[in-house]
Amino acid sequence: MLETFILMIDRDLYKDEFYDLQKSISTKTLDRIKKFHFRADAQRTLLGDILIRYILCKRKCKNNEELIFSYNPYGKPQLANSPDIHFNISHSGKYVVASVDTMPVGVDVEIIKPIDLKVADSFFSKLEKEYILNSEYGERLSKFYRIWTMKESYIKREGKGLSIPLDSFCVISLEGDNETVFYEGFQNEEAVCTICSSQNSEPKKIVLNLDSLINNFEKTVYF
Ligand SMILES: CC(C)(COP(=O)(O)OP(=O)(O)OC[C@H]1O[C@@H](n2cnc3c(N)ncnc32)[C@H](O)[C@@H]1OP(=O)(O)O)[C@@H](O)C(=O)NCCC(=O)NCCS
Repeated sequence: MLETFILMIDRDLYKDEFYDLQKSISTKTLDRIKKFHFRADAQRTLLGDILIRYILCKRKCKNNEELIFSYNPYGKPQLANSPDIHFNISHSGKYVVASVDTMPVGVDVEIIKPIDLKVADSFFSKLEKEYILNSEYGERLSKFYRIWTMKESYIKREGKGLSIPLDSFCVISLEGDNETVFYEGFQNEEAVCTICSSQNSEPKKIVLNLDSLINNFEKTVYF
């Protein structure tokens, strides 16, 4: 079953929460978190890790200490010795999103910022560009981000990072080929989120705020 958890970071972590949560993650991720220059980046990566631990503990009925992650050559994390479970994380601005499924999955969330739409000329296919240009002028930016997050979610499902050039595939042609289905995670005035699934199953979406994540995490991972 495809589930997508959407965490809204509706406040900063308190200092003690920030340090306490770090005790529940791997030293590898902790080392990365310590190297971030900005606290907001460290917080997003920490919360992504906590969110996926909460989801996997719940789904696999495991204790946090039992979760062991491995990484493919391009850095995509997976649960070691669990080929039946796939997940992906994305974070941007005040959003952290995690999708989990029985088949490979990718997710991407992007904050909508003004951008020169000519970027599409370099990275998007003819059909993708037409999709943007055929929409109302005021909707073009959000359509651009819709395509952008579709492409990123596809790359993230494949797990090969940017070694797959963005202009080497067309998400509009891929859509509906029975092996690639795109779902909207959410879309609002400030952000767009897209999920790339390997099967036709409408995702269940669960929205959390920071307090509910921390409460649920404590209840779930140390039962
Ligand atoms: C993975 C990647 C697409 C992420 O894009 P992004 O928009 O910057 O970041 P997002 O917030 O959407 O996703 C980040 C999360 O994706 C996951 N991730 C990392 N590598 C991944 C990969 N290869 N495929 C899928 N997911 C990956 C991690 O959980 C990561 O979370 P973390 O940074 O908190 O650990 C991009 O960083 C990338 O391409 N990395 C791989 C580098 C690479 O392949 N280099 C070329 C080698 S030939």
